[in-house]
Formats: sequence, C-alpha cells, structure tokens
Amino acid sequence: MRRQFVAGNWKMHGNLAGNAALLGDVVAGVGTAPCEVAVCVPFPYLGQCRQLLEVSNIALGAQDCSVHSSGAHTGEVSVAMLQDFGCRYVIVGHSERRADHHESDSLVAAKAERALEVGMTPIVCVGESLAERESGETATVVLRQLQAVTHLLGGQTAGIVVAYEPVWAIGTGRTATAAQAQEVHALLRAHLRKVSEAAGEVRILYGGSVKPDNAAELFAQPDIDGGLIGGASLKATDFLAIAGAAHDKRP
Ligand code: 13P
Repeated sequence: MRRQFVAGNWKMHGNLAGNAALLGDVVAGVGTAPCEVAVCVPFPYLGQCRQLLEVSNIALGAQDCSVHSSGAHTGEVSVAMLQDFGCRYVIVGHSERRADHHESDSLVAAKAERALEVGMTPIVCVGESLAERESGETATVVLRQLQAVTHLLGGQTAGIVVAYEPVWAIGTGRTATAAQAQEVHALLRAHLRKVSEAAGEVRILYGGSVKPDNAAELFAQPDIDGGLIGGASLKATDFLAIAGAAHDKRP
C-alpha cells in the first residue's frame, strides 16, 4: 500500500509571525487528513517550525541540501544539519534550483544519495519545460532526470519520493490535466519498475498549480500518490483541503 503524501514547499516565503500563524492553523486542522503531510520550509525557520510541529504528526522538510557532507563550503547546508533539526524530507532538484543555480542531473542525484546516506528521504523533482513539452521531449527529459538518480543509487530506490513538476505548470495557474500528469507518472513508474523491485512502493507526487479544486482528480489517478504544493501551501485552508483530497493507493 502506498500512503498518499502531501508536502508543502514554501519556497522563499515566510517570516516568524506568519509561520506561527500558518502552522498553528495547519496543525489545528490536519487531524483527519487521510495522508502523510509535510512542510518544507526555508532553512532559517527549521528550528521554529520544528517546535511548532512538535504537537502534530506533520513532518518537517528542507528545500535543498549540500552535495558535500561537511567542510569549507560557504553558504551550504549539510544533510547532517538538516537531520539535527528533525528534517525527515529534503527536496532535491527542484526546477527553480536547476534553473537558478544550474544544478545538473548528476548533482541532483548526488544530493539524493547524501540524504539517503543519513536516513532522510529525498523528494526528487523532475519535469520538462514548455519548450520541451511542445517539441515532444517530455519523456526523454523526465526519464533522463530520474535515471541519473536511479543509476547512482544502483536501483536502491525504495527510500526516495519522486515529484513530477512540469515547469510550465509551476506558479502559473496552468495545471497539467489529470490525464497528462498520469501519463508521465506511468512512464516514471515503468522506469522505476525496470530498475527496482520496490517500484510499487515509491510515491510519485504531482506538483504544479495544485489547488483545492483540482487536487481530488489528480490524486485519483493510479500513479499519482499525492502532491508537492507551492503557492497553495501558504494558505492553511487550501493546504488542508488539498491534503483532504488524498487517499491510500495499492501498489
Ligand atoms: P505551485 O503549486 O505554486 O505551482 O508550485 C509547485 C511547486 O513548485 C512545488 O514544488
């Protein structure tokens, strides 16, 4: 059984007062969510959010990690540091980092490996740009991105979460249709099945303009196991409504 999973990616949003209000409402309302819930917050707020989540079963995550374990790497944050703050998840390879920081497939794969080494779950993001979709390259791009990770892990994929986030759907209000998303999720699942016996257990999330009014249809697709939520995770009622649209899946 794959337990559905809804994770918020706050991106570079938040402040001390706002985080307390948002998580106060999320914690108060999450009680009956039929899925696992996590929030991936900016580094400086990990300590604050850890405390705010202590009374809940909501997991804490970060939005990136260093590929290095420690050392002279100014500005970097290691997986051990994230673990120190109680992070269970770390997003790696988000398209905004691939674009803003020129992160390569092999760097993203190595970050996923660092996370697994310390027992944290990497949420590995893959997704094509609009130009790549329009030129028929979606499958090639997302499989290349995923394969970099599965190759480095030698098929030991049981500990990862994958997030399919078409770049053209992020923050644009233009969601992939449930059928478009399912088609790509099925491709990703087929690749995982080829390289690992645990493929049926790996959760593949959809991300890109998930809102309360489209979450249920997306999450009902056979290979969509929840969502990675950007903008809507900053509003407690929306985030809770999205989590409420999830349900468990048989592998
Ligand atoms: P939006 O939900 O704001 O489109 O962002 C999706 C995303 O990038 C989550 O990682």
